[in-house]
Amino acid sequence: METDERGVAVWRGQEITGADALAQVYRDVTLVTALDPSTAEQVGGGTWTGVPTSSSTLPSLMAGMLEELRVVDGQRVLEVGTGTGYNAALLCARLGDRLVHSVDIDPGLIASARGRLAGLGYAPDLAAGDGRSWHPSGRRFERIIATCSVPRRLPAAWIEQAAPDAVILADVDFGIEGGLVRVCVDGAGRARGRFAETSGRFMAARGDAHAYPAPEPHVPYAAAVGTRPTAVSAADIRAHYPFRLLLALELPDAQLTYHHADDQPLALQLHTPDGSWARAPLSGGDGAEVAYGGGADLWGKVEGLWEWWCARGRPAQEQFGYAQEAGGEVRVWHLGTGRRWGAGA
Ligand SMILES: C[S@@+](CC[C@H](N)C(=O)[O-])C[C@H]1O[C@@H](n2cnc3c(N)ncnc32)[C@H](O)[C@@H]1O
Repeated sequence: METDERGVAVWRGQEITGADALAQVYRDVTLVTALDPSTAEQVGGGTWTGVPTSSSTLPSLMAGMLEELRVVDGQRVLEVGTGTGYNAALLCARLGDRLVHSVDIDPGLIASARGRLAGLGYAPDLAAGDGRSWHPSGRRFERIIATCSVPRRLPAAWIEQAAPDAVILADVDFGIEGGLVRVCVDGAGRARGRFAETSGRFMAARGDAHAYPAPEPHVPYAAAVGTRPTAVSAADIRAHYPFRLLLALELPDAQLTYHHADDQPLALQLHTPDGSWARAPLSGGDGAEVAYGGGADLWGKVEGLWEWWCARGRPAQEQFGYAQEAGGEVRVWHLGTGRRWGAGA
């Protein structure tokens, strides 16, 4: 990915073959492999902009997730989000292809992944469809790994298709942030575990191959109603992933937007549906000021949570448990103190 002179993210198209191809796929970078055709636009010789709809996952993220999945011989695995087939190939190499099932919403991606995997001598079960629904094989899986994110909770179909003591590893989106959860499913359909040590986010699962989620409505740069000094800077929020994850749980309805208004420094703005908002410049540091408006004291919640998180030694995401009841209710808690959050509607 590059950024053009207007600050727009662009991707340079590459046709890579031969020995160079191997070097490229082993580089620790995410390679965007498909753009939403309705947003894709050629902006220069060989460069494109648009909403990515598939990518080859960052190799270090794939490796971290596969390690945390802890597969053992003989286990049947479902991967949701086949994409290029890279991760499916690794699973085939580890388990043998007859135990690997992978599903992608985009039939075109499934067709090309099938060809690539066949070229390596693998013929796993590849299916086109919404991986959040029951898998067409009707099988039970000892491991389910998703490389697209799901909102608020794990889909019921994954829990239902989980074999006894199965492990699910997936990115759950809680609004302004989300994270990889690693849970074990018990015989009563409850999933319990914690956030994974590996951190990484994935593109959102979508409902069909040709309908892409509409971008979130743009939250306007609100005119300041009041300002006050704050000890928490927007740079702190941007720099500390585990804190952002907690903030998403603390403010489940909030949207987070980065604003670059004319003649204003880059600022982070939180906004909730009741019209409350708070905005702090990223360049804040000592003497930072927050601007705010609306009825709810959003920044007060940010400050309270920051104080709590810092006082507990800034715990990383794996210090937080995740439990999902059979009915879908989600609870996240700090392992050290038991402080808990719901996941929002
Ligand atoms: C980050 S890519 C997957 C990367 C892939 N695992 C690899 O090894 O390269 C995410 C994939 O999820 C797919 N996807 C999105 N929504 C989906 C859904 N509801 N069910 C299954 N796949 C979905 C996308 O088409 C995309 O190919």
